Amino acid sequence: MDSKIPLHVGIIMDGNGRWAKKRGQIRTQGHLEGLKAAKRVVKAASAMGISYLTLYTFSTENWKRTADEVGFIMGLVKQYLRGEFDFYRENGIRIRHAGDKNGLPRDIQKELEKVLEETKDFKGLQVILALNYGGRDEIARALSRMIKDQGAKPGLFSAEPVKTELIGRYLDNPDVPDPDLIIRTAGEFRTSNFLLWEGAYSEYYISDKLWPDWGEEDLEKAVDSFGKRERRFGADYAHVRNS
Ligand code: FPP
Repeated sequence: MDSKIPLHVGIIMDGNGRWAKKRGQIRTQGHLEGLKAAKRVVKAASAMGISYLTLYTFSTENWKRTADEVGFIMGLVKQYLRGEFDFYRENGIRIRHAGDKNGLPRDIQKELEKVLEETKDFKGLQVILALNYGGRDEIARALSRMIKDQGAKPGLFSAEPVKTELIGRYLDNPDVPDPDLIIRTAGEFRTSNFLLWEGAYSEYYISDKLWPDWGEEDLEKAVDSFGKRERRFGADYAHVRNS
């Protein structure tokens, strides 16, 4: 294992449907196995000393799926939020949320608020559930909040060109550092509206494995690959070093 551990890892958990199809099972079976994989990976991330893990659990576009599938995923989320408290407590895991909470079913909102409150002082891994999340939607909501704030603080951004740092302060979790590494499973090369703002300089790691097959050793491989990358953040370090 390389010793360079990313502070923040984001995961686009893809391939649940294909996993089920390959076995002649219904799609929801893939999501059920996907939840088990999520638990394995959360455990592994916590043991490896990763500080933040964002899981793309349900996007703003996922509402277009059948009512049955949406209902099933929401049921799994509820089960995960409610049933894992002992695991969060034992491992000091803090649950957080990214996305539009208001667009979630009332019972999920309540469950989410409860677990956010109950885990808010835990000091270990922070698991950010991207739930009813879309990168464009997050930026739009950030701008709405900023405009609203301007009513209370005139001059906030009207006189000057808007600074990117200012927009960053209105995102869903402004204190969370940008993801160092974004993993996508099931071999797709797309961002699918995940952490568009925060992922500007993230390293990407694409795995061919379907999400339900993921486990500790896959996360280790991804982190190892991250450890070997040279990150430049747009700068030419050779030039910077030599100047
Ligand atoms: C993508 O696979 C997966 C999802 C949209 C849902 C992710 C949900 C879970 C893993 C379960 C809940 C997890 C937590 C942490 C509460 P897909 O359905 O798009 O697969 P496909 O592309 O093969 O059809």
